Parts: sequence; structure tokens; C-alpha cells
Amino acid sequence: MVSYKEIGLVNTREMFAKAVAGGYAIPAFNFNNMEQLQAIIQASAETKSPVILQVSKGARNYANQTLLRYMAEGAVQYAKELGWEHPQIVLHLDHGDSFELCKSCVDMGFSSVMIDASSLPYEENIALTKQVVDYAHKYDVTVEAELGVLAGVEDEVSAEESHYTRPEEVIDFATRTGCDSLAISIGTSHGAYKFKPEQCTRDPKTGRLVPPPLAFDVLHEIEKKLPGFPIVLHGSSSVPQEYVDIINANGGKLPDAVGIPEEQLREAAKSAVCKINIDSDSRLAMTAAVRKVFNEKPGEFDPRKYLGPARDEMKKLYIHKIVNVLGSNGKAE
Ligand code: G3H
Ligand code: 13P
Ligand code: ZN
Repeated sequence: MVSYKEIGLVNTREMFAKAVAGGYAIPAFNFNNMEQLQAIIQASAETKSPVILQVSKGARNYANQTLLRYMAEGAVQYAKELGWEHPQIVLHLDHGDSFELCKSCVDMGFSSVMIDASSLPYEENIALTKQVVDYAHKYDVTVEAELGVLAGVEDEVSAEESHYTRPEEVIDFATRTGCDSLAISIGTSHGAYKFKPEQCTRDPKTGRLVPPPLAFDVLHEIEKKLPGFPIVLHGSSSVPQEYVDIINANGGKLPDAVGIPEEQLREAAKSAVCKINIDSDSRLAMTAAVRKVFNEKPGEFDPRKYLGPARDEMKKLYIHKIVNVLGSNGKAE
């Protein structure tokens, strides 16, 4: 049993309370490799932004949960080396799907876990979430839960269509589970294809897809029911069209990729939404940079020569999200 406190991590409690009161959101960036983690830490240290490092099922399969946990411990030291005296870094399990998995993360030094039982019937979601909360809270580890179903693929949970969170359920759910934050469904979804072309209109000038707006009415109703309670948005990549264009111009094929417009995320960040999950945008930044090097310098075979530019591009993206979208810069001086 290792406590996250011994390795310099923090849980989300205080961070979220400040973010809700201050009208900004904390970035939750997924990581599964060194370059991504370096870019996240460099961006957070430079902007003095609190940050959540999240580990998904895919990341665990790819990189190994133990290795990722030790990378996070290294990240705390790296942040200090970069001159960030008091780094506020959370190590979070993304989309945990069982009590045993959540427990293993608590036991090995994660400071926050998500139990995603949103695909289960309501009462079963409550029971499993409460079981995780009861265990995690013994060690002061915070717990994110989810109500409502996002469209698309939630890791291995496939939902044909989204079911917005029902505001009439949130008080009962939060009270009976004791969860610390709640992921809700208001129209976001995972991946780089968040909407089908038939759900969108097209900008006549650019020909680009314009997605339907998020269900802010549902968000506001939830906020009214649970004043000040931390709300989380998954599936919040914006799918920057510059990256899609670079990828497509350099041998890739991402037709009609579309994300959540940044203005809408900015608006959400001003509300009780205090954690915004971004993974796909970082994948796009990395892929765009790597494809460009491969296309322009076909003789290059030193991975540092293409992973280095990929890291720089991800860092630029993370800084942009922190400063221009979430507003978390300077909140962890
Ligand atoms: O939950 C959403 C993550 O972006 C899933 O990522 O492919 O690493 O499991 P994954
Ligand atoms: P995106 O696919 O929109 O980046 O969402 C990531 C996410 O929600 C991770 O849990
Ligand atoms: Zn997610």
C-alpha cells in the first residue's frame, strides 16, 4: 500500500472546489507514453496550472499500470526540476470498470479514481459506486462517478446513442453514493468523430461540419439541483481542423472528423464543470507532427527526430487548452 501523498500527488477535492468557485476547469489529459507526459508536465509547469493525469484502459494495456504510476511519480519530480515549486498533480484512473481495478489503483498510489458504472441499471450504478467510494475515502482518494451515457464508444462500453443525464436523478445519486464529482452526458462523446455528418450543418464558406450545440439546459438544471457540486465532461476534444488538415495532407485519412467547439467548452468551464477530459486532440497533434516529418524527411529514422516535434506540438496544444479554453493557468502558483 502506497499513499499518493508520499509521492507528492494531490487528490481533486480542493482543486475542484476552487475551480467551481473561480469559474474555470482543470485539464484532465490522458497519457500513455513518455513524450505525452513530458509535454503535459512542461505545459502545466510553465502555466502553473493544476493538472490531472489520466490512465485509461487502453493506456494500461499499452504501457502497464505500474509503469504509468511510476512515471507519474517521476513527473512530480520533473515538475519541480522545471521550477514549479508546488506542483498540483492528480493521478487519476479513467473509466474504471470494477471495484477490484479501482482498489488496485488506490493501493498503488493513484490519488483519484473514476468508477464508470454508467452502463449498468441505476441501482447497480449506485451500489458499485458506493462500494468504491467507501474504500477510496478511507485513504482520502477522491472518486468520480458517471450518470447518463455518452454516444459512441466508452472504452468497451458501446452506446448506440447518448442518453443525457437526467437532472431528476442527480441529488439521489450524489447523496447515496457519496461520490466527489459527477461525469454527465450533455452531448459530448469520445474520439475524433463526435457527430455524424447528418447531425451537423455545413459552413457554406469552408465546407466544414458544424456540430449541434451541447445541451446547456441540462447542465444548468443539474447545477441547480446540486449547487457547487463538481461536474465532469468527458469526450471534450475539439478536433482542431488544422491538425486534421495536416494529417490529410500528409497521407492520412480522417474524413469529416469533428469535435466540440472550444467556445462551448469555455462556456462550460465557467459553470460547475470543473474537469474537462481531453485525449483525442493530443493524439491528433502527435499524428500530425509525425506524419509531417515522415512526409518531408523520408530518410529520417531516429525516433527522437519525429517524437520530439510531436512532443513540441502536444505541448503547444496543452498550453492553448489551459490558457485559452479552460482558464486554469496561474491557479497552482
Ligand atoms: O475514455 C476515453 C479515452 O480516450 C480512451 O482511451 O483508447 O486509451 O482506452 P483508450
Ligand atoms: P476525447 O476523446 O474527446 O479526447 O475524450 C477523452 C475522454 O473523455 C477520456 O476519458
Ligand atoms: Zn472519457
